[in-house]
Amino acid sequence: MYDYYLGGRSHFDADAKAAEAVAAAMPVARAAARANRDFMVRATRWLAGERGVRQFLDIGSRIPTEPNLHQAAQAVAPESKVVYCDNDPVVLEHAQELLHGATEGSTAYVHADVTDPESILDAPELSDTIDLGRPVALSVNTIFHFVGDDQQPYDIVRTLLGALPADSHLVLTHATADFLAAGHAERAESVLDIYAESGSPLWPRTFAEVSRFFDGLELVGPGLVPPQSWHPDAERTGAPGEGAVPGYAGVARKP
Ligand SMILES: C[S@@+](CC[C@H](N)C(=O)[O-])C[C@H]1O[C@@H](n2cnc3c(N)ncnc32)[C@H](O)[C@@H]1O
Repeated sequence: MYDYYLGGRSHFDADAKAAEAVAAAMPVARAAARANRDFMVRATRWLAGERGVRQFLDIGSRIPTEPNLHQAAQAVAPESKVVYCDNDPVVLEHAQELLHGATEGSTAYVHADVTDPESILDAPELSDTIDLGRPVALSVNTIFHFVGDDQQPYDIVRTLLGALPADSHLVLTHATADFLAAGHAERAESVLDIYAESGSPLWPRTFAEVSRFFDGLELVGPGLVPPQSWHPDAERTGAPGEGAVPGYAGVARKP
């Protein structure tokens, strides 16, 4: 569905149909996907340029969409190392493509589920590529709203960050219903129903709930904000026309 919003071609007819139904109920869906993707690129460039981060672990990476994270990082610092991870067999099929343009050994792909964080941390592809003794940016964009409270999403992030040294960073975007205009609760319900029927139930969280992912970390300015408001590009500022982007984005340093 996300691929369809981004104008890609790697989706099934059923995904396109479900995505169209979501866009009918919530026209901002396409702009939200684009704002999220643009945030990922800006945050990666910022971490490489301003914070000197050279290692990235991107979980929920999805099928390739240029620029991919390694292209954003390596455009700033060619020596950057990137490990991608996803649990979708379709992403696994595209993994080689995802690594396109990278120099050998600078990127790797781990097929694993974020709800089993140890399986990611213990993967040989990870230790062959990234040195866990040096700072890593953990990038988890638009993935944790697919992880319900019963699967302990906060503990998962703690486990992943616990394996990373000081000066590592968390980059996270997450869906929210906080900006829903009054009287639109029914639309939100129908969006949640479509995701549930498509097999990927969605768990939007409030500002306070998304903030919990950053507990114990130093949020960098401007804090937890809609993705298009985080260090906006000079030429692309403000919310896209279709309404408020229903998501939060933040970057934080592990002290
Ligand atoms: C909406 S895409 C986000 C892509 C990219 N992070 C971005 O923000 O542009 C969500 C991705 O998370 C993956 N995903 C969802 N649940 C997951 C899980 N439990 N473990 C690993 N990956 C998961 C999906 O397969 C999909 O590729």
